Amino acid sequence: MPFSLPALPYSTSALAAQGMCQETLELHHGKHHNAYVTALNGLVEAKALAGKSLETVVAEAGRAGTEGLPVLNQAGQHWNHALFWQVMSPSGGGDSLPAKLAAKIDSDLGGLAAFKEAFKQAGVTQFGSGWAWLIIGTDGKLKVTKTPNGANPISTGEGQPILGADVWEHAYYLDFRNVRPNYLDNFLNKLVAWDVVEGLMEKGGLVTGQAA
Ligand SMILES: [Fe+2]
Repeated sequence: MPFSLPALPYSTSALAAQGMCQETLELHHGKHHNAYVTALNGLVEAKALAGKSLETVVAEAGRAGTEGLPVLNQAGQHWNHALFWQVMSPSGGGDSLPAKLAAKIDSDLGGLAAFKEAFKQAGVTQFGSGWAWLIIGTDGKLKVTKTPNGANPISTGEGQPILGADVWEHAYYLDFRNVRPNYLDNFLNKLVAWDVVEGLMEKGGLVTGQAA
């Protein structure tokens, strides 16, 4: 079964009042994410991906280094966006985190304010395109990290992402022009679905159910 574009869990206008306008979501989901899925499906036969889960494809492409890059660019971006849509919500944002997630952020990252600052800095300092992440590291502790382009912490072997912010310009240019720090502030304070993030933490990460 080919990879497919997952439906947004809300309408394209649902996040407009929270700083992500309808045009951003229409282009980002309907054009950019869709293009990654189409390109990835074009590689399935040539790269012998048939039958593999998206998570396996991403991990194997990451381990293959430069040779795996053509697949990683598309498969990583498909996975990254699949997570991204899920971790935002029309009822997202705020500083009232669910108890288990709040406790884990306190113990591993020094509290919510310190986490937000670290996450924002990861996104701001990612030179060029890429992603900022909150992950469950290989030691089981929460960690903030960043990756370039279509890579992610599964492809680098760092751990399992439970929150990701797209810092490609296509994610924020219509809403925040060139001001990436404001986009990241807005993401953290108005968009993050903390209950979804806690659920992913308890499950040990996202399994998309997508396969070639
Ligand atoms: Fe994107």
